[in-house]
Amino acid sequence: MVKLKRRYVCQACGSLATRWQGQCDDCGEWNTLVEEAAPTAFSVRHDLQDGGRAISLVGLDSDVALPERLGTGLAEFDRALGGGLVAGSATLIGGDPGIGKSTLLLQAAASLARAGRGVVYVSGEEAADQVRLRARRLGLGDAPVQLASATSVRDILTTLGRGRAPDLLVIDSIQTMHSDTIEGAPGTVSQVRASAQELVRFAKKGGAALILVGHVTKDGTIAGPRVLEHMVDTVLSFEGERSHQYRILRAIKNRFGGTDEIGVFAMAGEGLQEVANPSLLFLTERDERVAGTAVFPAIEGTRPVLVEIQALTVRLASGATPRRAVVGWDSGRLAMILAVLEARCGLSFSACEVYLNVSGGYRLQDPAADLAVASALISALSERPVPQDAVVMGEIALSGEVRPVAHAPLRLRESAKLGFRRALVPSSAAKQAKELSVSGFTQLSELVDHML
Ligand code: TYD
Ligand code: MG
Repeated sequence: MVKLKRRYVCQACGSLATRWQGQCDDCGEWNTLVEEAAPTAFSVRHDLQDGGRAISLVGLDSDVALPERLGTGLAEFDRALGGGLVAGSATLIGGDPGIGKSTLLLQAAASLARAGRGVVYVSGEEAADQVRLRARRLGLGDAPVQLASATSVRDILTTLGRGRAPDLLVIDSIQTMHSDTIEGAPGTVSQVRASAQELVRFAKKGGAALILVGHVTKDGTIAGPRVLEHMVDTVLSFEGERSHQYRILRAIKNRFGGTDEIGVFAMAGEGLQEVANPSLLFLTERDERVAGTAVFPAIEGTRPVLVEIQALTVRLASGATPRRAVVGWDSGRLAMILAVLEARCGLSFSACEVYLNVSGGYRLQDPAADLAVASALISALSERPVPQDAVVMGEIALSGEVRPVAHAPLRLRESAKLGFRRALVPSSAAKQAKELSVSGFTQLSELVDHML
């Protein structure tokens, strides 16, 4: 009889420990270690350099069979996937609860089913009736999707193994799935991993495109999709603020395509609507001339998206450590811009609390936003508005130098098209603009002089 060893698995990052401890050594999260039975150890009895089959080694230039793509019928979804679902691949869609993952997948499932594809949608979260009601409300009630409410991976695979493998299998969500080959409650790292492994194996064998839904939880007690990321081919993140209408589907990992395109949707009463031209999406809530705001022409994938950056500085009476809070941008980057403004331009924020917000619930990742952030901060501090018809872009180096940005002409053209008349840009980009009146800068201090 083999004695089962105990081990402790961090529910946030999946790393192993031999004894329980309060904090995970790897990711630093607290109270995430949970005891799980270790799989029985096997020993390597012989030399592995013998007894295997010879594998063929080929050159990089040999012929490639491009994977077959399955269009979902939602162009924005296909765009984020890099051209549609790939047969026999596994895709993980992560996102906060309530953001619209089930809605998106139900719409994609219905559209594929209507196009004559075999589609199975398994919900472990909702009863079949609930899903049916939603489908009816979305006007998808007549789509020939095969629906089930189930949580046992064995039951699901037994059922699906009987007939022809579906073209698309949706599992909503992986945290609710349970594999009886392993101990533990659904949602623990080992359950999530084991269930996903079996489902992925089924998809690869039968050629189905598999989509797993994964909830992201803040507290780390439920296995987040992070442990799954290496098991699947594509990881998409469905983002947005629940209080805002807009949702962005972003590829984080994609074995079959780039990770630079996004899909944009708006959540409406009739489900998710595709937004083919997102450039003005995040500017809709713009106010009149207020100090502390700047418009930045971001690039998402190949498309420009204009966003408003809002900064607020609050002078503190004395002594207390001033807060810095950021929504939609990297807080480390904000600290850097503040430091450069202080060290290179003589502007002091040390007696101020600084708040930075990106409009519309948008998460900004483009490094070209630096100059727009700086101008919003300068404007907030000086209480002088950035001209309302201006866009601002440029990367800032620690030296205070304003660096060129990628796709400057595209950003400027789109800004001009949307009615902006002025642009504050790196000097290298100043020559590229015909449509707008541009001011070029090589140093951040020149922007400060320009604005004050
Ligand atoms: P849902 O797809 O259930 O989110 P998830 O699967 O990511 O948890 O969507 C939840 C929210 O979307 C819910 O709060 C209601 C809203 N919603 C709409 O606004 N319009 C709709 O047509 C649908 C179906 C949902
Ligand atoms: Mg759901």
